Amino acid sequence: MTDQVDRPANHPAASPGDAELDCNPSANPLFTDVVQRRLSRRQLLAGTAALMGAVGAAALIPGVARAGGSSGQFQGRLGFAAIPVSREDRAGVPEGYHAQPFLPWGTPITGSYPDYRDGGLNSGEEQEQQVGMHHDGMHYFPLGRGLAEQSRHGILCINHEYVAPEFLHAAGATRVDGVRTVVDEVRKEVAAHGVSVVEIARDDAGRWDVVRGPFNRRITAGTEMEITGPVRGDDLVRTRFSPDGVRCRGTLNNCANGYTPWGTYLTCEENWAGYFVNDDAAQPREHKRYGVSTSASHDRYSWHTRAEDEYARFNAAATGASALADYRNEPNTFGWVVEIDPMDPASTPKKRTALGRFAHEGAWPSLARFGQRLAIYMGDDSRFEYIYKFVTRDAYWGRKTDRDLLDHGTLYVARFNEDGSGDWLALEFGQNGLTPENGFHSQADILVNTRTAADFVGATKMDRPEWGAVHPVTGDVYMTLTNNSARTVAQIDAANPRGPNPYGHIIRWREHRRRPHALRFEWEIFVLAGPAAEGEVLPGSARNQDLTEDNSFASPDGLWFDERGMLWIQTDMSGSQLTGGPFGNNGMLVADPTTGDIRRFFTGPVGCEVTGIAMPPDARTLFLNIQHPGEQGPSHWPDGGEARPRSATVIVTRDDGQIIGR
Ligand code: FEO
Ligand code: CA
Ligand code: CA
Ligand code: CA
Repeated sequence: MTDQVDRPANHPAASPGDAELDCNPSANPLFTDVVQRRLSRRQLLAGTAALMGAVGAAALIPGVARAGGSSGQFQGRLGFAAIPVSREDRAGVPEGYHAQPFLPWGTPITGSYPDYRDGGLNSGEEQEQQVGMHHDGMHYFPLGRGLAEQSRHGILCINHEYVAPEFLHAAGATRVDGVRTVVDEVRKEVAAHGVSVVEIARDDAGRWDVVRGPFNRRITAGTEMEITGPVRGDDLVRTRFSPDGVRCRGTLNNCANGYTPWGTYLTCEENWAGYFVNDDAAQPREHKRYGVSTSASHDRYSWHTRAEDEYARFNAAATGASALADYRNEPNTFGWVVEIDPMDPASTPKKRTALGRFAHEGAWPSLARFGQRLAIYMGDDSRFEYIYKFVTRDAYWGRKTDRDLLDHGTLYVARFNEDGSGDWLALEFGQNGLTPENGFHSQADILVNTRTAADFVGATKMDRPEWGAVHPVTGDVYMTLTNNSARTVAQIDAANPRGPNPYGHIIRWREHRRRPHALRFEWEIFVLAGPAAEGEVLPGSARNQDLTEDNSFASPDGLWFDERGMLWIQTDMSGSQLTGGPFGNNGMLVADPTTGDIRRFFTGPVGCEVTGIAMPPDARTLFLNIQHPGEQGPSHWPDGGEARPRSATVIVTRDDGQIIGR
């Protein structure tokens, strides 16, 4: 869920969702004098022409192209009729398409394959062998050779962001005076987090199923991992568990994802801070700047109230004589991008610290070209946080030596200038004032305190960066800015032109000379989300787009390009007053970025968000995820009747077996 309720900095949400914390105290202005320079439609047009002139597209902003009514050579590239908004407890798809649930929470995938039991009846041990809860980012890794085989046989990696105890357990989480008294409940919660690695195959009748093979694996909030990159072995990650600071336990709040050209999965730790408490009088900056709870009774699941070491470690107060005598450094082992090799079930997941530590939404690679360095684009999803990119030190060659490319390189944070240009500011020890005189003592210190370093260099505070997507031909980068209820009119800037920003927008940029390692870029706003109200003017902000009943949307979150260059947009209005309003349930749209045509393609069941998306190479199957059905409003999806709701993947196919969306 997404928490839209304003609350003091460093005060976690009352509910155990993936609520974003406000904890950026820096005074970075975005641009000076921005109020007078709000984006007008004329400016949007000018920016569009300047940026996109090279590809000869004159009408890139939907409000210009008139959504659904584009003309020219690209007309008709979206070959389906838009569907209306829905408030029904079902998955809605266009005529001629079919949707079926797949791999719901609790599906047995490994070990003794214990059956799912409705009513929260499975044990913690059983959950360790089943698909986790609250599906989020996802990627499909083909197996075998040839398009046909690779499109019917592969491995799905699925993130499980958080858990809903009211559905996970028979009668919710047991607490006595705030203490978690039933240890198996905690074990089950830990096991329902993390990642599912599942081999799947499609039979001749077109039915996908789990393959009970050796690839299948559960990675959880307790799985042992390796710390790699500049932070490995640093004092800030030395713990009782790993006194030399090279190993750690578990991955948490795995939101969106990424993948590498060498065939590994990236899972990203977003709102991990909410799992920890530290009620010391003064928290260190590596806790405070991330929103670790200051109150022992204000975390999500109170795992820290257990005496067992693997749960007690979530109390990060400095109670002992040193970091090896308490758990003060445990939070520093979270907030990273984790690399998992789905082809090697015995491999240890690696926390790639060179990519920085923040509320990582996801990690999206630039186009991979032999002999070029690779960029990874990333967003920090909290209000007024930043957009980052990591550039590898070494070139990508498609060789075995690429496998540790993510351990060496430069982390940058974005500054969006008001004239449509942008700068990547290096977060590198000794550069841009990141020196001991200014409180930064090493590259490891900068990376553990990435947000603080980004504050210092003057990055642009964004409206909650969520997913990114890289155009498969141009390499242009798109990123969703889901909303920002806290931005005031005085805080408006060109890249975040609404205050408040209840509906969100999508921004896009092009690297200078289209080089992923460039230090400069040009940017523009691709679309301002909102209701179907032509010409609507939001208070103190830019004009809305000309969105219609076919493509109105709010809170863009998931974002993905298919191989044809169509941009899939998923929505997450969870937690906001928009749910149940004019936008109906969360859903998914497709945009043709060349014509500006946008159409609603999918609507989810009640109370869910739509997230995670992947296709096998033949583009005739679409996988997407439904997260937390029933979180706001009653749902019995997908099992129906009186069954509990379950997060699940959805398989979308065309009745005629052709390419999805065309
Ligand atoms: Fe987990 Fe920012 O969504
Ligand atoms: Ca979520
Ligand atoms: Ca998200
Ligand atoms: Ca979201």
